Amino acid sequence: MNASVARRSHPRFLISEAFVVDLPDRIADEAELEELLSRPPAAVVDVFRRLRGDLAVLGSGGKMGASLVRMACRARDAAGSRATVFSVSRFGDAAVRARHEAAGAETVACDLLAEDAADRLPPAAHIVYMVGLKFGTSDRPDRTWAANTVAPWTAAGAYRDAAIVAFSTGCVYDFTRVGSGGSVETDPLEPRGEYANAAVARERLFEYASRERGTPMVLLRLNYALEPRYGVLVDLAQRIAAGEPIDLSTGHFNGIWQGDANAAALRLLEHAARPPLALNVTGTQTLAVRDVATRLAERMGRPVAFTGEPAPAALLANSAQATALLGEPATPIGRVIDWVADWTARGGRTLGKPTHFEVRDGRY
Ligand SMILES: NC(=O)c1ccc[n+]([C@@H]2O[C@H](COP(=O)([O-])OP(=O)(O)OC[C@H]3O[C@@H](n4cnc5c(N)ncnc54)[C@H](OP(=O)(O)O)[C@@H]3O)[C@@H](O)[C@H]2O)c1
Repeated sequence: MNASVARRSHPRFLISEAFVVDLPDRIADEAELEELLSRPPAAVVDVFRRLRGDLAVLGSGGKMGASLVRMACRARDAAGSRATVFSVSRFGDAAVRARHEAAGAETVACDLLAEDAADRLPPAAHIVYMVGLKFGTSDRPDRTWAANTVAPWTAAGAYRDAAIVAFSTGCVYDFTRVGSGGSVETDPLEPRGEYANAAVARERLFEYASRERGTPMVLLRLNYALEPRYGVLVDLAQRIAAGEPIDLSTGHFNGIWQGDANAAALRLLEHAARPPLALNVTGTQTLAVRDVATRLAERMGRPVAFTGEPAPAALLANSAQATALLGEPATPIGRVIDWVADWTARGGRTLGKPTHFEVRDGRY
């Protein structure tokens, strides 16, 4: 543990929102949501003013990829850049691919596990790597290991001369004591379960490629991207809406508005380093499930019941280093909670994919 890195604990999630400008009180529909999630902050537009060369986003077909790709295209256009934004995924769903094209990206269908994958990847100077596989690990651990080892190795080999921001996860750490402020980047990577260990392998393969070949990289350890259709807040809000009690055993977590996580990823293209810079990207506060659920329920006009007691340890990350580099995430967590409450109370569409954030044995 690096004693020089400040650990901070925030028992309450309510912070001043006086500085918030330009954020709606509620999100009316998916069009407004997609616009908001992909709205590039000035700092991202500035990155695209400076970047030389094209950007490829690998594994863009998932929950975060569409808004990241669209943010990159909007920032590129606002910067007056002529760079191509390649959106690379398997694109099993043609509608997803069409949305990426409509956002202004050039799409490439590529399975990174295919033998000819390296030949299909477009040339690019900057890479955001988003491929990952978590759910279904208990049934097919082999698939999880292949997706999180073979695919990164292929990408690292194809883009040895690029700058790479590779999404990783806060799951690479073991649980840490609630109140400690969360794991810091220098803590040991000794997590529970096959998915988390495969995620460590993903990082280590990128790191090996960086150290051996000099490829600059960032390993972006994300803890829970939040938006109204997916995420820990949705899991809690859905339970409240269904009148189900909330188990407090996993009583604490970290979260960040998905748009802020995507903005961080794009800004970090300029911070790629060798050996890689490992960085926790999440909100600055340790969120208590009881506090968050209480606020969700209040805003939803519903009662909430709890079972169990918060465990003394949880999966928590300390984002002090990212905050020092990039500043605090722009979207206050209280606003995100209110958006999710309003969305859920109106029966807004969800992705129907629980995060399983409450899992404590590492089995997904
Ligand atoms: N969302 C979160 O809260 C969260 C939290 C921590 C870490 N992360 C990390 O952040 C990254 C992005 O998150 P996400 O939520 O968008 O993940 P996701 O929904 O699982 O998306 C990852 C995408 O990668 C693509 N992919 C998978 N295998 C592939 C292959 N063999 N070849 C090419 N593409 C492949 C898939 O799209 P296609 O089907 O189109 O191929 C998949 O949808 C992931 O790596 C995840 O580990 C996310």
